[in-house]
Amino acid sequence: MYSCYLAPCPDLVEKRNAMEKLIVKNSRGLSGTVLIPGDKSISHRSLMLGSLSSGKTIIGNFLQSKDCLSTIDSFSKMGIRIVNKGSKVTVFGRGLHGLRAPKTILNANNSGTTTRLMLGILAGQPFTSRITGDKSLCRRPMQRVTGPLREMGAVIFGKGGGNYTPLTVTGGNLEGISFKSKVASAQVKSALLLAGLYAQGQTCVSEPVKSRDHTERMLKYFGVKLKIKGNTVCIRSGQKLKGRRIEVPGDTSSAAFFIVAGLIVPDSKLVLKNVGINPTRTGILEALLRMGAKIRIVNKRNIKFEPVADLIVQTSSLKGAVIGGKIIPRLIDEIPVLAVAAARAKGKTVFKDAGELRVKESDRIKTICTELAKFGVRTKESKNGFVVYGNSKPRGAKSISYGDHRIAMAMAVLALVSKGTSEIKDTACIDTSFPEFFGLFRKIQGRQTG
Ligand code: S3P
Repeated sequence: MYSCYLAPCPDLVEKRNAMEKLIVKNSRGLSGTVLIPGDKSISHRSLMLGSLSSGKTIIGNFLQSKDCLSTIDSFSKMGIRIVNKGSKVTVFGRGLHGLRAPKTILNANNSGTTTRLMLGILAGQPFTSRITGDKSLCRRPMQRVTGPLREMGAVIFGKGGGNYTPLTVTGGNLEGISFKSKVASAQVKSALLLAGLYAQGQTCVSEPVKSRDHTERMLKYFGVKLKIKGNTVCIRSGQKLKGRRIEVPGDTSSAAFFIVAGLIVPDSKLVLKNVGINPTRTGILEALLRMGAKIRIVNKRNIKFEPVADLIVQTSSLKGAVIGGKIIPRLIDEIPVLAVAAARAKGKTVFKDAGELRVKESDRIKTICTELAKFGVRTKESKNGFVVYGNSKPRGAKSISYGDHRIAMAMAVLALVSKGTSEIKDTACIDTSFPEFFGLFRKIQGRQTG
């Protein structure tokens, strides 16, 4: 499915459908205003909590991406009526105990968030269900969620001792646990909090560094009480959720591609509207500001339980930085495009403590380094990170996405500052998180010099 967010762009659509290839020329002078589409993490969660609530949940600015459609499909298979009209979605919740056993296998396709959060919910159900996904998802580790869910009492079978999809879950009769996660993962935290809604007593999750907190904010908004102390969140079972109205803020991770494009393409100025600035997601802004980026954050406001703002981005001279430690979970999804910013920065940029990148939609440490090299950007890979040697003059390249949406979009941004014309192959995956990308990318395009 392809859709342009603001302006129709049939020529680009045709090109892309025929070859799933994006042709990008060296450019100058990006300009315009971009309304950033809805946040993926928040869109998933609003469907999930809406389904478990009593009454209607109306979601505005819902992200119509493939990943979020997989979540709609899964809950529909469990008897939830979901009406999806444009950017407005209505979920007719059936309460905490209203899900029905699905008649067929649930398919999360490429979506790790659908899978891991859903596993938490399925663990609480008194029925057996099966969940699977595409080739990339079937390679991603699930033990980090299935391990503690088993400790709570769920019976889970699957490949690799329950580490890989397809997984079969027989839920019910859960008991609360206190779990110390080794990884800072919002998906682990959220899965256990959702299972905790069904578990006897209290369920607590601690993480080494605080990950995105959309689940906690939204649970509270739906009427659930949580105890939050430092990096530990506790939930008690037996709490009821009540359907609400939600307005999804623009996705910080989608905005990142346009932020970096505006910073590195000469003579550019972009206004990005409605960008989520939840502090657990704004590592990208902090890292870029440290690198010398000219980004103004204006019109700060709250949309219900999440903060948003507009961003004004201007071409900047960037300098290299060290990016590691506590900031990593707050910018983990933005590292591919941050690496592109680093390629144009003066000096080297070191990414460390980012081993999680190896288990994303692709092994991003490998795919980032391999693709940057094709553009003539020097990198050095290590176990948990990589170094980008900046200030290079990238040359146009034939790049591939490895089926990873964020690699495809990051390389499209790099192509804007690379000499000549570049080709990004296998770009259909962009629809998993940002179907509007192509239309918006075209809309801001300035003078092409390639
Ligand atoms: C997400 C959490 C992060 C992030 C992913 C979305 C979420 O994953 O990378 O794209 O919505 O909870 P981890 O929890 O594996 O870090």
